[in-house]
Amino acid sequence: MEEVPIPPYKNPNESIEVRVEDLISRMTLEEKIGQMTMMGRVKSKRSDGSIDPLIVGGANGGRGPYEYDPAPVEKWAEMADKWQEAALKSRLGIPLMLGVDAVHGHNNAYRTTIFPHNIGLGATGDEDLIRRIGEATAMELRAAGLNYTFAPCVAVVKDLRWNRCYESYSEDTEIVRRMTSIIAGLQGSPPDGYEDKYPFVARGGNNVIACAKHFVGDGGTEGGITEGDTKMEYERLERDHIAPYLDCISQKVCTIMASFSSYNGQKMHSHKFLLTDVLKGKLQFKGLIISDWRGVEKINQWKEGDDADYYICAALAINAGIDMVLGPPDPENFQRALVSLVEESKVVPVSRIDDAVKRILRVKFAAGIFDLPISKRPSPDVVYCEMHREIARESVRKSLVLLKNGKSKPFLPLDKNARKILVAGNHANNLGYQCGAWSIYRNGENADRKNGITILEAIKEAVGHDTEVEFEIYPSSNTLSSAKDQFEYAIVAVGERPYAEYLPSETGPFLQPNIVDMICSVADKVPTLLILISGRPIELKGEMLEKVEGLIAAWLPGTEGNGITDVIFGDYDFVGKLPVAWFKSVDQLSMDHEARTHDPLFQVGFGLGYGSEGEVGTGSPRLPI
Ligand code: GLC
Repeated sequence: MEEVPIPPYKNPNESIEVRVEDLISRMTLEEKIGQMTMMGRVKSKRSDGSIDPLIVGGANGGRGPYEYDPAPVEKWAEMADKWQEAALKSRLGIPLMLGVDAVHGHNNAYRTTIFPHNIGLGATGDEDLIRRIGEATAMELRAAGLNYTFAPCVAVVKDLRWNRCYESYSEDTEIVRRMTSIIAGLQGSPPDGYEDKYPFVARGGNNVIACAKHFVGDGGTEGGITEGDTKMEYERLERDHIAPYLDCISQKVCTIMASFSSYNGQKMHSHKFLLTDVLKGKLQFKGLIISDWRGVEKINQWKEGDDADYYICAALAINAGIDMVLGPPDPENFQRALVSLVEESKVVPVSRIDDAVKRILRVKFAAGIFDLPISKRPSPDVVYCEMHREIARESVRKSLVLLKNGKSKPFLPLDKNARKILVAGNHANNLGYQCGAWSIYRNGENADRKNGITILEAIKEAVGHDTEVEFEIYPSSNTLSSAKDQFEYAIVAVGERPYAEYLPSETGPFLQPNIVDMICSVADKVPTLLILISGRPIELKGEMLEKVEGLIAAWLPGTEGNGITDVIFGDYDFVGKLPVAWFKSVDQLSMDHEARTHDPLFQVGFGLGYGSEGEVGTGSPRLPI
């Protein structure tokens, strides 16, 4: 029997452009607009749990399968396979991009490796380490059947009141540019001669599609207001906030997410000059631009039910250059609206739809998801494996910034064989606080991950077997009254409770008065090391700063709390440097480090080490180790 030739778009030996042109020529307008839709978690509407053929471009894994919460990667993979199988049953069998917010590991799944949040990674300054974190994260995502992450965030934070400060690598654009090396880890690196600025993902099933976000100026809004307005001359926007995207595009990033924020009063999701003329024109970005979650609806704060407004939002967003819409409240409504905008009111030209769909297909072909069988992925054993834990532990070590080490003589490294030590503070034994937001749940409630090592557990593991460790979150007056005779030193771990983009950081960038009092009470009695677990610098009351012997910024370290004990007991030296300036007082915010009046407690780049001198507040960069 004569062999039926496979269509070019299904032939992996054809070039990407041949496959894109062949496939789009076969698509109806509804199928094209289907590809422009990335829906939320797919819910089966059938009693047998099966799913209608999916005519969409992708789905957001969110928090994983509804039946399990949180879910191990095996259950994520079952969910992802079910969605993919449904998509492959559609007329043209176009596979889905299956995305999730894996912003510090595959953080929404159970028992995965959680790496430090970006601000801690910025303190490491180690681009190769960041690349390796990308590789490990990609493996743990693939093991869960996913092929896309909405990461990295390449925001350049300029106001520490921003609720997403911890998602930025630094206030220094050059540091952020270097940390984009995570993209090479997530997507893999293309072979020599690969087409310039073209999207790329290594084949073999161990890499994923990355997403540089949020374009542009998300970290530069006035007053650090989440989704606020970034007001500045274009030259400064390009120098401070657009620059990291050059490095993302040169590393072949497949997708870029538009920011909820505005630029000079215009919503980014409707900003044609920046999305199309700059990103796709001047910077020659060949991948796809995805909206933020319901970002289209936020263009003019569209409310459910007002379809006229929604049509305007959809037209503005698509014509501005948005190619894929993430999480429309009602995907079918979005698709109906766009069909009408193209066919009836003709507000959106077919050429814009074709450009968007070609970009989506180009990413899918470049990422090899047409050619990878569903089951081609790493074993679940890679999740939280020894190698990934070691990378996470190394990144914790290198993220620590030593801000104070003794008054008259060095206080650290601490003695592992002390007779008795006191550990205190509500961040000393709380994995949820240690991991921060985007950990199982977006707001990082005190999620019980069941895997990971708290600071207290790591201390107990590190000290000699004759050393007694007493833990009191808030040491009693009874403990304090005899503390001087009982304890050789104290370790107090406090900081911020997890918060995400919509939660007000309840503590603000300062500690509650009762916590400051506790620290001072302990430090009055016993030489004390203060470890700050926070998404950003927090205000250090002068008296407290004076009383403690040692002070470390540990940011949001994730599951491997033993990275902290590796350094405080001297097995490793401190190498971390401040990725953001540390203010003296909240009243100073926002600080402009270019301003003559800039007067931080610690400059960007400050960090002591065991071999370095330098006093609190000198701001002098740490001597090279
Ligand atoms: C959010 C965030 C974005 C995230 C997206 C999908 O609102 O702004 O960073 O990737 O939703 O969850």
